[in-house]
Amino acid sequence: MNGPSDDGMAQSARPTTSRRGIMRRVLTFGGLAIVALTILAACGPEVEKPYTTTSPASPTAESIQSLYKLVFWLALVVFVGVQFAIVYTALRFRRTRFARRRPAQIHGNTRLEITWTVIPAVVLLIILIPTITTLYDFDAAAQNGDLEVDVYGKQWWWEVNYGEDERGEDLDVWTANEIVVPVGKNVVFNLQSNNVIHSFWVPRLSGKLDVMPGHVNRLSITADEPGVYYGECAEFCGAQHAWMRFKIVAVPENEFYTWINTMRAGNVGTTNPDAELPEGVTRAPEIFSVCLACHQVNGLESSAAIQGIEAPRTNGPDLTNLACRETIAAGMLINNPENMALWLHDPGAVKPENYMATVIEEGTLDEQQIQELNEYLFSLQPEGGCVIGESPDVPSGASSVGSPVASPAATPADD
Ligand code: HEC
Repeated sequence: MNGPSDDGMAQSARPTTSRRGIMRRVLTFGGLAIVALTILAACGPEVEKPYTTTSPASPTAESIQSLYKLVFWLALVVFVGVQFAIVYTALRFRRTRFARRRPAQIHGNTRLEITWTVIPAVVLLIILIPTITTLYDFDAAAQNGDLEVDVYGKQWWWEVNYGEDERGEDLDVWTANEIVVPVGKNVVFNLQSNNVIHSFWVPRLSGKLDVMPGHVNRLSITADEPGVYYGECAEFCGAQHAWMRFKIVAVPENEFYTWINTMRAGNVGTTNPDAELPEGVTRAPEIFSVCLACHQVNGLESSAAIQGIEAPRTNGPDLTNLACRETIAAGMLINNPENMALWLHDPGAVKPENYMATVIEEGTLDEQQIQELNEYLFSLQPEGGCVIGESPDVPSGASSVGSPVASPAATPADD
């Protein structure tokens, strides 16, 4: 039992540490630590976590989550194994008062070297194979969408243009920051930028993908369940990067097409103070023609702002049916008349360095103009009320510009 010793002094007084005793201690402490960690991890209030990555709501997010779990459990096994080995070695081979000789040196032990090279290689291989398959699956899904949506990362908001649906029909609708999609359909987002690099990320629906100038990145998202999924820019893109939020609202297909049609119908109006107003035509405040240098309202006479990738950096969000949006300024302000007044009063004070502030400064608009604009902006909603979001109590008289598109569910397919 006794270890090597140069002298025979006090050999019998040496405490004997049995291998089994050490094991028991290591296992007890290790076990207690794991139980404590599990209890701690389960603590905490049930809070809503809109940006969580651990509650996937699409096949894409689901497969990312599976990879994450695989890496997590493998890492846990490695962690526990290494910790166990460290503690065991420290206790089993610790230097005692009675040790007189150096322990056996094991440098260059071929068997050990091979073992600890092979184990990590196998672990990495176990992670690598499903990772590569997942990447190819994502790529395949992004080739064949049921709906094409162009997304332009702007400073600091998202411009969105709906393209072809599964029947090849060009939906031709523009909006900003609040993206409505049909549930269960593979929506392919064509991500691009005309300024700096952004990153499009809806944690519950997909991984991050860069949004960059000069190259279109395709991202496929299929929302499994109706709901609201929050997203944000995930690549630092300037002063207001933190306020470049957006959301994806997944709704049943019929509701999606109803929404599309209200956007195509737009808000018919004119900025001409002398024009006659036929039924269903709204008069926009005259000052709104200044706003139309950067903004667009579908159906408003003299709307001329350029949208998309060709647009100058200074252009702004499409304001069609603006009253139905939950927030303005890319998630920064709740969309209500008080906040709108704040925004119109001095957009640069609310969101410093945003491009609207290059034209609209404090004092550009007087109180009367702000009030007129506020009333007009909250009248921008569909005739029958908002399809998505709550309708504010402001009557509107919209009539159609774009012809309605039928939902594929309503028109039986030929084949
Ligand atoms: C120089 C171009 C420009 C002009 C002129 C301009 N805006 Fe804007 N506007 C913007 C930009 C850019 C944003 C987006 C800011 C952001 O979220 O970072 C914006 C945002 C808005 C928003 C919030 C929309 C949303 O969904 O987030 C409203 C409302 C708005 N502008 C109204 C107006 C009105 C009314 C006028 C005229 C008095 C006006 N703007 C003039 C560029 C402009």
